[in-house]
Amino acid sequence: MLRFPPTFLFGTATSATQIEGGCATSDWYDFAKKPGRIRRGESPDVACDGWHRWPEDVALQRALGLGAYRLSIEWARIEPRPGEIDRAALDTYRRMLGALRDAGIEPMVTLHHFTLPRWLGERGGILAGAFAERFAAFARVAADALGDLCRLWITINEPNVLAAHAYLLGVWPPARKSALDAVRAHYRLLEGHVAAYRALKDARGDAASAGVAHHLRITEPERPARMGDRAAARAFAHVFNDAFALATCEGRMYGALDALFRGRDGFRVTDARRTQDFFGINYYSRDVVRLSLRHAAELFVARAVPPGSEVSDLGWEVYPEGLGMLVRRWAARSGLPVYVTENGIADATDSKRGPFLVRHLAELARAVADGVAVRGYFHWSLLDNFEWAEGYRPRFGLVEVDYATQERRPRDSARLYARIARERCLAG
Ligand code: FCB
Repeated sequence: MLRFPPTFLFGTATSATQIEGGCATSDWYDFAKKPGRIRRGESPDVACDGWHRWPEDVALQRALGLGAYRLSIEWARIEPRPGEIDRAALDTYRRMLGALRDAGIEPMVTLHHFTLPRWLGERGGILAGAFAERFAAFARVAADALGDLCRLWITINEPNVLAAHAYLLGVWPPARKSALDAVRAHYRLLEGHVAAYRALKDARGDAASAGVAHHLRITEPERPARMGDRAAARAFAHVFNDAFALATCEGRMYGALDALFRGRDGFRVTDARRTQDFFGINYYSRDVVRLSLRHAAELFVARAVPPGSEVSDLGWEVYPEGLGMLVRRWAARSGLPVYVTENGIADATDSKRGPFLVRHLAELARAVADGVAVRGYFHWSLLDNFEWAEGYRPRFGLVEVDYATQERRPRDSARLYARIARERCLAG
């Protein structure tokens, strides 16, 4: 039997743009209107109508007996124009958090989950000199308005994924393709994280516990005997997986480049040292990589899945061992308690999600038994939702959403997860 301690949080995760619908003031609202940007021309305009149906979604979680929920609050909704705060929107989030608390569900609130207010996007978005300052001001508003209802905070979701998709691959707004801009975005996001972390701590002190949701992958050379592949794996692992995470722990990101970056008010990369109270890990998959001159835009790295491996509907390899490796590695490296802030699978038939859940949770239970400080697990996702440029086809939900009627139908995997959360153990 593999057991979880009584304080271990079993939860699910979502983000505002992916489920709420009805926010016409964000950069993604405009982006989705541009032809060819989102598959099948889909948009987040309605999504799961979570902005109206959240009471039902809280009730669903309560019925499943889940003890935690990671959600994001939409900056574009709360501050639709610079400096103008929509108190009614904040009040809706207050009611949401209050309802979660009343249902015995611990909320974890993300301040930035990929999207920006349109006005900030138009002024340069993340690369704007004022990004950190604006973001910290928003964090302060959120902490003052919601801080009594929320203990756990994420400043930024997956800064590395955002920088890569928005500035290197050019598939998310503002759709640039520049390695230099991607690196600058990393630095600006780091500066923003530190500023928001400080704002949360100034407002709430030890009543707020904050971190980053780091997207971490396992990266291995495709042909380990070849030096080029080994070098490609090392480079990808550092630039993509580790750099931002290391910066938040140790105050160093890209070696000599760090000294060249100066943010507002003299911000230096070294200021990011120890700016987390816990270490958040979003884990999905493994890549095997090779050096490839044809992939200049992706820093000369071609990624693949090992032949014959089990994959999700999106072709991502199912590799549960990677989660065990990462929680051990980063708990040791950061010296912080760890939350798995996302982990899940696109699986429309729900035939793989159950075993996926059990195998990933088993990795965590074994790590906990070995004394690793893993405090909780948030499955991505509670609901099927808007999967960014992929649109609605990938089905990540424990709960199926019928987009024609907005009906929610818990899948078998939801019942399985509910049972694990209730019993706090897995047959080992
Ligand atoms: C993560 C994102 C999340 C969702 C999942 C599938 O990278 O944080 O919003 O799209 O992937």
